[in-house]
Amino acid sequence: MASSTLICETQPWKDLKSHVEDIKKTHLRELLSDTDRCKSMVVDFDGITLDYSRQRATPGTMDNLYNLAEAAHLKEKIDRMFNGEHINSTENRSVLHVALRAPRDAVMQSDGKNVVPDVWNVLDKIKDFSERVRNGSWVGATGKALTDVISVGIGGSFLGPLFVHTALQTDPEASKCATGRQLRFLANVDPIDVARNTAGLKPETTLVVVVSKTFTTAETMLNARTLRAWISKELGPSAVAKHMVAVSTNLTLVEKFGIDPNNAFAFWDWVGGRYSVCSAVGVLPLSLQYGFTVVDKFLKGASSIDQHFYSAPFEKNLPVLLGMLSVWNVSFFGYPARAILPYSQALEKFAPHIQQVSMESNGKGVSIDGKPLPFETGEIDFGEPGTNGQHSFYQLIHQGRVIPCDFIGVVKSQQPVYLEGEVVNNHDELMSNFFAQPDALAYGKTPEELQKENVLQHLIPHKTFSGNRPSLSLLLSSLDAYKIGQLLAIYEHRVAVQGFIWGINSFDQWGVELGKSLATQVRKQLHASRVKGEPVEGFNFSTTTMLTKYLK
Ligand code: F6P
Repeated sequence: MASSTLICETQPWKDLKSHVEDIKKTHLRELLSDTDRCKSMVVDFDGITLDYSRQRATPGTMDNLYNLAEAAHLKEKIDRMFNGEHINSTENRSVLHVALRAPRDAVMQSDGKNVVPDVWNVLDKIKDFSERVRNGSWVGATGKALTDVISVGIGGSFLGPLFVHTALQTDPEASKCATGRQLRFLANVDPIDVARNTAGLKPETTLVVVVSKTFTTAETMLNARTLRAWISKELGPSAVAKHMVAVSTNLTLVEKFGIDPNNAFAFWDWVGGRYSVCSAVGVLPLSLQYGFTVVDKFLKGASSIDQHFYSAPFEKNLPVLLGMLSVWNVSFFGYPARAILPYSQALEKFAPHIQQVSMESNGKGVSIDGKPLPFETGEIDFGEPGTNGQHSFYQLIHQGRVIPCDFIGVVKSQQPVYLEGEVVNNHDELMSNFFAQPDALAYGKTPEELQKENVLQHLIPHKTFSGNRPSLSLLLSSLDAYKIGQLLAIYEHRVAVQGFIWGINSFDQWGVELGKSLATQVRKQLHASRVKGEPVEGFNFSTTTMLTKYLK
């Protein structure tokens, strides 16, 4: 395929377009009765089992998808990513988040330089700093230990670390290491978020970590100034040196803000914001909370998937299979959304994180060469842990719109409960639903079955389930730091696979800029009106009306 050829112009895409019409004639009930087919759709890797037999796909579909991957030069694109080529072409950058979790002796190049030693310099610095804070040898301005941390950041400088923190919170090993410590995240510029995150904390025992790749994001910088004032007011301006540190690629701006560059933890422009949780963005706050050993285990989990993604054949490659199936669902069935349904409360912040990773990466309208795309890319990601979601939006998934679902379950609960006299323990109760829901979606319930059950005639249409609704299941052997790292990397790479096949740039985010620049114009107006009493000017009728009401 010539680089300017769109993927939809290739033969494998056309083949899949006609193949999907055949598949549409086959119900999942039928597909699931073919045991050989089902056997071929279960893949195991390092404590993770993927079962995609409830996808509306046959081995023939998979062959067509492998052909599509070949036409999209998927393997070459994965190699180019790992080789540090500037695949983020609109920003002229490498995409090397895999280097953030590479072993110390690995070699990964960006612009002719092995970046792994730089990564490990920062990891060593974090290990040393977090140990000093945790053991009380780094103290605050009044000599007290810093037991509480507020991480200030938004988007990729927030969602990934929050997901991992939430997942580790109840892991027995991690939680033991966090005794007596608190980690909070201040993201929204809404003063309510400031109030909530400072409530009950004292500046003298709090360390603020300002996390911003650019160190220019308006919300983060205002929140950082607000917390700087919170500290200075109580402890005096000199206390900032002991109570504020930063994570950024822009160390000049960090210093300008008043944070000692020695207390800054670097990362690099080859790390995209939404792919930065394995950099100091996540590693610093998480090491402060849980200790570096736990976080190192998380990095090792992510690294295990990186190596698998790089080297496993496509038929056994978890991120590749997941990415290809997403393309199948979005581009050929036209399903616009996907539900991420972890049957684990510890994963409650997983869907919000993947929402950014996926939607900011793949919600694009042009190819990597800037050609308008005649097909839609990206998908609408949302989700909630089971079983909560079942009592919220599953009605729509079962009888309303078709939304492919990712069911994520865990064999061994982080916090098992055994209640005497109960039929099953709590985790088995949870997992009963994890196993039941995919079949309910796939098989549905026919009017004939309802008739046999003597359901009243007039209720039969209401109680009928069409079924034939695709899902896939991921079963993790446990949910410790290592597994959390694996899960993260699987989804990161899945998004890349989708983007590589669609032929887009999954690593830029120009779509967020317009709103930001319009907000600058509004900000100026609000300032001019409030300080100098100037009238609202230069906006359309609607915005002028609303701004005028707001200013009253
Ligand atoms: O607005 C989107 C975005 O640019 C994200 O891509 C990024 O994760 C977030 O803002 C925060 O950016 P920064 O880390 O530079 O403050």
